[in-house]
Amino acid sequence: MPAYSTLSQTVQSLTDGEDDVIALMATVACEVHHSDARFDWTGFYRVTGPEMLKIGPYQGGHGCLHIPFSRGVCGAAARTGQTQLVADVDAFPGHIACATSTRSELVIPVRNGAGELIAVFDIDSDQPSAFTEHDAEQLDAILTGVFGRL
Ligand code: SME
Repeated sequence: MPAYSTLSQTVQSLTDGEDDVIALMATVACEVHHSDARFDWTGFYRVTGPEMLKIGPYQGGHGCLHIPFSRGVCGAAARTGQTQLVADVDAFPGHIACATSTRSELVIPVRNGAGELIAVFDIDSDQPSAFTEHDAEQLDAILTGVFGRL
């Protein structure tokens, strides 16, 4: 489990004063990815058009480039505006497997200061049931601290 208070302070310090979204996403993806061995793919899918997500900065193996809101765990997070905490991706209808090794997944909607959905934040793990509600809450707070001020 990452030391979320330390991770949050590090992310806030590294991103302080920055308003470029891609630079912010790259920094968050890097710091979160390297904070915990459970995190095997960590990155963003950006809202680029009506009902469409496109890949943003990430860490890990290649990710699929486009995800419509109608597909996958990421699409479900974007469509519903709700965090998706998936203990077993094989049990999630329509899961998109960018890597056959993925067993569990956490996807969190990312909103700007106006409350608009700008992206989803996706973490894959090769471990089953890797994520907890605490992970979701702490990572959501870190994302809000960075993107909620844009
Ligand atoms: N598993 C995601 C797709 C993105 S890859 O995991 C990086 C989904 O089902 O939306």
